[in-house]
Amino acid sequence: MQPESLPASDPRLDACIAALPEWPGFALLEHMESLGGNGVRLVGSVRVRVPRVSDAEGLSAAYQRNREHLAPWEPRRNEDFFTVAGQAASIESKLALFIAGSDVPWVLLDEGRIVGVMTLSGIVRGPFLSAHLGYWVDKDYTGRGVGSAAVAYAVDAARTELGLHRLQAATLPQNAASQKILKRSHFEEIGLAPAYLEIAGAWQDHILYQRILF
Ligand SMILES: CC(C)(COP(=O)(O)OP(=O)(O)OC[C@H]1O[C@@H](n2cnc3c(N)ncnc32)[C@H](O)[C@@H]1OP(=O)(O)O)[C@@H](O)C(=O)NCCC(=O)NCCS
Repeated sequence: MQPESLPASDPRLDACIAALPEWPGFALLEHMESLGGNGVRLVGSVRVRVPRVSDAEGLSAAYQRNREHLAPWEPRRNEDFFTVAGQAASIESKLALFIAGSDVPWVLLDEGRIVGVMTLSGIVRGPFLSAHLGYWVDKDYTGRGVGSAAVAYAVDAARTELGLHRLQAATLPQNAASQKILKRSHFEEIGLAPAYLEIAGAWQDHILYQRILF
């Protein structure tokens, strides 16, 4: 991988070459950047790519627009989270985790406007080769197949580019839309995990799903 192929806006990613040359996330990033920096087309004009520090303004606006939409499904956020500075810090920590080989963050964009976020987190290699998948789609873009296309993309990238064996996702029992897109991407239900995640200020039961990739 050549340093000059990495996005100029995130010079810290150059450090990844020396630090972890075997981490396949770099090949995935290189592939995305080779497509002209606009990422991979998902559905209609919506595309997916790894975030850049320069996305902080767009992410701050997206989280502000979607504050009520996301509140029942996400951890409680402090006010800093919704600011440009808060999102810049969040992107920095996500890129640090990407460089460390434990996460792959993505943003979903329509003509440059951020309309969703998706993350593979907690990547464990060795005999587990597994990661957790999380995502959300802008309130004005739901019901158009964006979530389904994003999950299908993540499954494909996890298997073919990252070499993972398994993906896991967790949904609240009442999150029918999320369950539908997981089943569409051939995730199978594992069971109910009591008090699994702190969502909207309460430790809530979740249904766990997994997709075995190979
Ligand atoms: C869940 C979410 C990602 C789905 O994204 P999306 O882009 O709307 O997904 P898609 O359009 O690909 O598919 C959604 C499907 O769920 C269906 N759906 C939506 N609400 C539903 C409901 N209350 N009951 C049953 N089905 C529902 C839609 O009709 C659609 O099915 P279809 O394609 O057969 O018509 C989005 O609603 C979201 O971001 N929600 C808030 C955050 C969240 O829940 N994140 C996931 C946490 S596990």
